[in-house]
Amino acid sequence: MCQYLKYFTRMIDRIQTLLTEVNAWTAKGPDELETLRIKFLSKKGEISQLFNDFRNVPNDQKRQVGQLLNELKNKAQDRLNELKEGLEAAGTEQADIDYSRSASPDTIGTRHPLSIVKNEIVDIFARLGFTIAEGPEIEDDWHVFSALNFAPEHPARDMQDTFFIEKEPDILLRTHTSSVQTRVMTGNQPPIRIICPGRVYRNEAISYRAHCFFHQVEALYIDKDVSFADLKQVLLYFAREMFGADTKIRLRPSYFPFTEPSAEMDISCNICGGKGCPFCKHTGWVEILGCGMVDPNVLDNCGIDSKVYSGFALGMGIERITNLKYQVKDLRMFSENDVRFLEEFKAAY
Ligand code: DAH
Repeated sequence: MCQYLKYFTRMIDRIQTLLTEVNAWTAKGPDELETLRIKFLSKKGEISQLFNDFRNVPNDQKRQVGQLLNELKNKAQDRLNELKEGLEAAGTEQADIDYSRSASPDTIGTRHPLSIVKNEIVDIFARLGFTIAEGPEIEDDWHVFSALNFAPEHPARDMQDTFFIEKEPDILLRTHTSSVQTRVMTGNQPPIRIICPGRVYRNEAISYRAHCFFHQVEALYIDKDVSFADLKQVLLYFAREMFGADTKIRLRPSYFPFTEPSAEMDISCNICGGKGCPFCKHTGWVEILGCGMVDPNVLDNCGIDSKVYSGFALGMGIERITNLKYQVKDLRMFSENDVRFLEEFKAAY
């Protein structure tokens, strides 16, 4: 084979090999793209070198080799552009994500009905200037009973009602939120105007109408010249805000060791509107809270001068108010965390 022809076949073979390589080139990222450019299209790249060699191709072959070489050059450029566009498109696809779109139709949780009602009660009293006070659930005998004027032999002190943690000294789970009164009164001088929501414990057998823990809200107002009329006005305001403007209240004399005089308050049954139904045992009235004027002994026990100051207190069960608002028939529902029950309160706030 003559010298030229050998050269010619080598060039053709080389170009064909490179063409196959260019066609098969892929790029997962800009690095592979750049390698393609440097290998084929840069000044010192394969194609440039072939163009240099092209000078030595015999004239009669120049046309065929030239065409093939141009084809390789164009193919390399096209492939480079094609791969580049592909990568850019993949990049924009990611940039096209709409971050403002909600991820998935996630369901929002609900507040527990007892929290809803507690917040409502606290809000009503806050409008009258009461601020929240809290105290510990693990208490001692003084704060729960003695300071609040419970006689030593009072049945509430009995193990049947109270969960004792230690008997000497008496450490126990509070049986009512009135213990927060004691704590606030021992640490502060009047005016005192507080609302105390919290959990309380009593040694009761669990049934649809009793539980060993439940929730109360206590309110206390102490200042100079606070009278029973102030208490009545606050009670009426609360009842109307909570159960509607048509709600009526009535007070029945009662007894609590820490108030004198004491009363229990009924509201006109908001289920039957006072006409009588199974809920109000056909009386038209339902009891919702206990209240009274703070016993002077309690004030003195806590270091507040009962000759200068007077005040009223009231306490109610949150479960009871919730039952009245939402007619929950079984108290145990409140602590079972059944989402089907909880979801029924989605619309409430
Ligand atoms: N502490 C009482 C109870 O647990 C409720 C109560 C009644 C609170 C009368 C008061 C009150 O502040 O004045 O049954």
